[in-house]
Amino acid sequence: EFHKSPKPIKFQHDGPFGTWDAAQLQRGYQVYKEVCSSCHSLKYVAFRDLEQLGYSPEEVKALAAEWTNIRDIDSDTGEAITRPGLPTDTFPAPYPNNVAAATANNGVAPPDLSLMTKARPNGTAYVNSLLTGYGPIPAELKEQFPEFSTPDGGHFNEYFPNLNLAMAPPLTLDGQVSYADGTEATIPQMAADVSAFLTWTAEPSLVERKQRGWPVVLFLLFATVLAYFAKKHVWSDTK
Ligand code: HEM
Repeated sequence: EFHKSPKPIKFQHDGPFGTWDAAQLQRGYQVYKEVCSSCHSLKYVAFRDLEQLGYSPEEVKALAAEWTNIRDIDSDTGEAITRPGLPTDTFPAPYPNNVAAATANNGVAPPDLSLMTKARPNGTAYVNSLLTGYGPIPAELKEQFPEFSTPDGGHFNEYFPNLNLAMAPPLTLDGQVSYADGTEATIPQMAADVSAFLTWTAEPSLVERKQRGWPVVLFLLFATVLAYFAKKHVWSDTK
């Protein structure tokens, strides 16, 4: 293969003792909302799930209401309407259907991002690398494949398996979002934050799953010690 493996990147949720960095997830949510959501849906995530990022139920209500494009049917008139979000709604799709989505994006519908970090190998690092991986076609590639080029409406990215993708670089400016927590919104910072957020959307129980293992390990250790002394006791008068 000719694409690059993702750059290594560390997160607080890594490893057996990992925990979510709630502040980072909140920043990642902000990047998703302000940048990615104009093209990508997050159809398996409900606004009320955001409570796991440390928002109170009242805050979630207010966050949901900021999304004014929830498609629904008016229960009185039966007409299609758009209305503000409620905590129980899932994130809205930016386009009414796949044809509209593809037409607006050079023929490729932007995929749903809910499970993206699970769908790609080393997905969290991949998303981070993809977002920061745009650039010119390297000379070695041109030498090896003189015919290779990036088509109109395509963008070269050495982390994308096909090397050319239909997504223009979405993060192009330091300070593209103004973080509510005052963190400096450099491009690498925004890329890492939204990658962490998309790791949470794909596996919200990641940290819980790791923590649930520890009592099991401790119990098994204890049971082993107990079994050892029980064995010694049972056989103590056998020479
Ligand atoms: C594809 C992430 C913003 C349009 C993708 C993919 C990811 C991604 C992970 C899938 C790559 C793969 O299939 O392996 C993001 C993130 C964004 C963002 C995190 C915000 C920071 C946008 C925006 C647009 C867009 C604003 C539209 C203007 C697309 C399109 C594809 C795509 C058209 C399909 C590319 C292809 O398969 O050739 N994006 N995206 N994305 N995205 Fe985005």
